[in-house]
Amino acid sequence: MIMTTSKPGETVEPGALGRVTFLDGKGDLPMLEISTRWSAAEIYLHGAHVTHFQKKAEPPMLFLSQCSRFAEGQPIRGGIPVIFPWFGRREGLGQHGFARLKTWELKEVVPAPDGSVSVRLRLPDGPEAAGFPRFTAEYIVTVNQALTLQLVVANPARDAEFTFENCLHSYFEVGDIATASVVGLKGLAYEDRVGACVAGRESADALRVAAEVDRIYQDSTGPLEILDPSLGRKIRIEKQGSASTVVWNPWVAKSRQLADFGDEEYRRMICVESGNVGPASIRLLPGAASTLTVKLSTEPLK
Ligand code: BG6
Repeated sequence: MIMTTSKPGETVEPGALGRVTFLDGKGDLPMLEISTRWSAAEIYLHGAHVTHFQKKAEPPMLFLSQCSRFAEGQPIRGGIPVIFPWFGRREGLGQHGFARLKTWELKEVVPAPDGSVSVRLRLPDGPEAAGFPRFTAEYIVTVNQALTLQLVVANPARDAEFTFENCLHSYFEVGDIATASVVGLKGLAYEDRVGACVAGRESADALRVAAEVDRIYQDSTGPLEILDPSLGRKIRIEKQGSASTVVWNPWVAKSRQLADFGDEEYRRMICVESGNVGPASIRLLPGAASTLTVKLSTEPLK
């Protein structure tokens, strides 16, 4: 069964104890509120932005800034910004692509018999894409015990290639950054973007953050874990079609510079982002497609 909901205020009942409501969210931006028998989630059409995922009887998995803007033309601070078709600054084009600023089209709400809910969104055509070869981008968000994200980019051209970067810029909630750590990066080469860009190789079994961090790790295809003793949980990141991991925390000074981020909020978040950045950019031949899949789940930390 496939259901499509497109009017604010409309509710669909996708299956056992599941519910999807389409309503006006913060800043009157349209959003989907999803509840399944395991979890709750929120997705804004603005940026195809998942702002919330929470398993029952657990704190939220995603961090969302109290100071975030919710407005056309502004990115949301927290949750999972979709970064596409470029990452970082690009001369004359701004930061982190235009996908996070566009209102995506809601194509389908697909309930599964087990109570899972999948939502499929499509990036609309627009003048921002004029300088790029033709492409299509769809984003499928599946909510159940876990949160699974799939960004599917296709090149429908007969003769032109399409090269792009992508990144699911996930902000995770932690109880205390002082005791949290990231496991799964050891041995990987990285570019450190704090100050003068320097190259390094990760030596830590469990990376801790005690200052501003902004690193792009390459050849990072395996699973990662955020260990959070303060909240007594582990966040697991499993990915396919991703060669880069970005780790970001703005720490004290940068937090104060960010107008849409609280001065103290760096203490309870960490970005561990999955995508394909810089030398790992994706080159799509005519007629080809690529999928970035990220599965996010939590379990108690023993
Ligand atoms: C990270 C980048 O992915 O995003 C950082 O590596 C950047 O350099 C951060 O500061 C936040 O970017 P923005 O555009 O959302 O403020």
